[in-house]
Amino acid sequence: MANNLDTIPSIDGMRLKARARLPRAIFDFIDGGSDDELTLQSNRSDFANYRLQPNILRDVSSCTLQSHFLGSASSMPVIISPTGLAGLAWPNAELLLASAAKAQDIPFTLAALGSCDIEQVAAVDHARKWFQIYVLRDREITRKLIERALQAGYETLILTVDTGVIGKRERDVLNGFTVPLKWTPRTCWDMASHPHWSLATLRAGVPIMRSLTPYTQMDTQSATKHAKWINDAFDPSANWDDFKTIRDLWPHKLLIKGILRTDDADRALAMGADGIVVSNHGGRQLDGALSSVQALDIISTHLNGKLPLILDSGVRRGSDVVKALCLGASAVMMGRPTLYGAAVAGEQGINKVLSLLREEISRTLALLGVPDINDLDRSCLAVQTGKLPAPDPQLAGADNH
Ligand SMILES: Cc1cc2nc3c(=O)[nH]c(=O)nc-3n(C[C@H](O)[C@H](O)[C@H](O)COP(=O)(O)O)c2cc1C
Repeated sequence: MANNLDTIPSIDGMRLKARARLPRAIFDFIDGGSDDELTLQSNRSDFANYRLQPNILRDVSSCTLQSHFLGSASSMPVIISPTGLAGLAWPNAELLLASAAKAQDIPFTLAALGSCDIEQVAAVDHARKWFQIYVLRDREITRKLIERALQAGYETLILTVDTGVIGKRERDVLNGFTVPLKWTPRTCWDMASHPHWSLATLRAGVPIMRSLTPYTQMDTQSATKHAKWINDAFDPSANWDDFKTIRDLWPHKLLIKGILRTDDADRALAMGADGIVVSNHGGRQLDGALSSVQALDIISTHLNGKLPLILDSGVRRGSDVVKALCLGASAVMMGRPTLYGAAVAGEQGINKVLSLLREEISRTLALLGVPDINDLDRSCLAVQTGKLPAPDPQLAGADNH
C-alpha cells in the first residue's frame, strides 16, 4: 500500500492525505461547505468553548466505550452519516463503509443518493444498517424507497429535513464541479494529475445514485439525465405532513436529521420521532446557522432527556465525542472523516479513521477520570467564555489546496 497508515496521527492527518490523493474538484466537493463556510468552521471551533474538567485518582485501568442507543448495543457511540455519491471518494465506498462499520460494530447510514443501492448494502449483512431519505417531489418514489429499505431489513430510517433548497457550495463553482463531471480543460488536467483516482474511477464507472435508477428510467450510463432528474427531485414544499406520512409507513426507529431549534425538537417529539439528529449538514446548507455543538447544548437542556439526541457535524476528535455525550447526546454521527479514510486507502482507511477515534475516546475517558462512557455528564464540562479561537488556516477554505 502506497500510504503508510501507521504514520497518520489523526483524522486531520487523514484529511491531508485525502487532499493529496483526490482531484481538487472531488476533494472540495467532499470537504467544502456553503457560502463563506462560517458554519463549517464553527462546527469545529465551537467545540473549544467546552472544556473538560478531569476527575483525579479514579481507577482508569480499563475504560469501556460500549454503549446502548436507540434500542441496540454498539462498541462505541459513533454512527457513519449518510453521504450521497460516496463512490467519488473510492469505487463503491458504501459497501466498504458498511463492511467497516460491521467490523467495528457501529451503525452505518446509507444515503438514498448513495452510489450503491439499498439491496447491495443490505448484502453486506450488517445488522445495524440505517437508511436516509429526503422528501422527493414524487412521493411515490419516497414511499417505494422506504418499502425497499423495510424489505431489506434496515434497522433505522433517517429523514433529512434541512435541504429545502441546495446550499451554494462556492468551491464547486470555482472548480467547475458538476454531477456528472463536465470535461473542461481544467477538469481534465485535475483528473490527469491524479491518475490513481482517475484510473480506479474509470474502471469502476463514474458513480451514480444507484437506488434511484429504477425511477429515473434510464440506464446507468446516462449520467447527465440522471443528475438533472435528481436536481428536480427535491421538494421545497416538504412539511410536517410528510413527516407524519413517513412515520405511518415506517414501523421501526425513525430519526429526523437537521433540527437546530427547540420548537422543532418539541414538534418532532410530539409527532412520534424516535430521536433527533442535531445537524447543520456539515455546514453545507444554511451558512451562518449555529454550530451543531451549540445547538445540542440548547436542545438538550430544553428536552431534558425526553428524546435521544445525536450530534452530527464537526466531529474530528475523541474529545468531541466525549463533549457531545457530556452535553446529553446518546451518540455522534460523522460524514467526511470516513470519506477521507476511504479516499486514502479504501476499507483500511475507513477502519483507520474509526480506530483513531476509538483510541482518542478511550484516552480522553482515562485522562478525564471517567472509565465508563455511560457515566459522562455535564459535571465534566466547563463552558469557556470569551473570544473563539481563530480557525486553523490549514483546515479552512479552498485557498490552501
Ligand atoms: C459529500 C457529502 C455528501 C452528503 N450527502 C448527504 C446526503 O445525501 N444526505 C444527508 O442527509 N446528508 C448528507 N451529507 C451530510 C452528512 O450526512 C453529515 O450531516 C455531515 O457530513 C456531517 O458533518 P461532518 O462531515 O463534519 O461530520 C453529506 C455530506 C457530505 C460531506
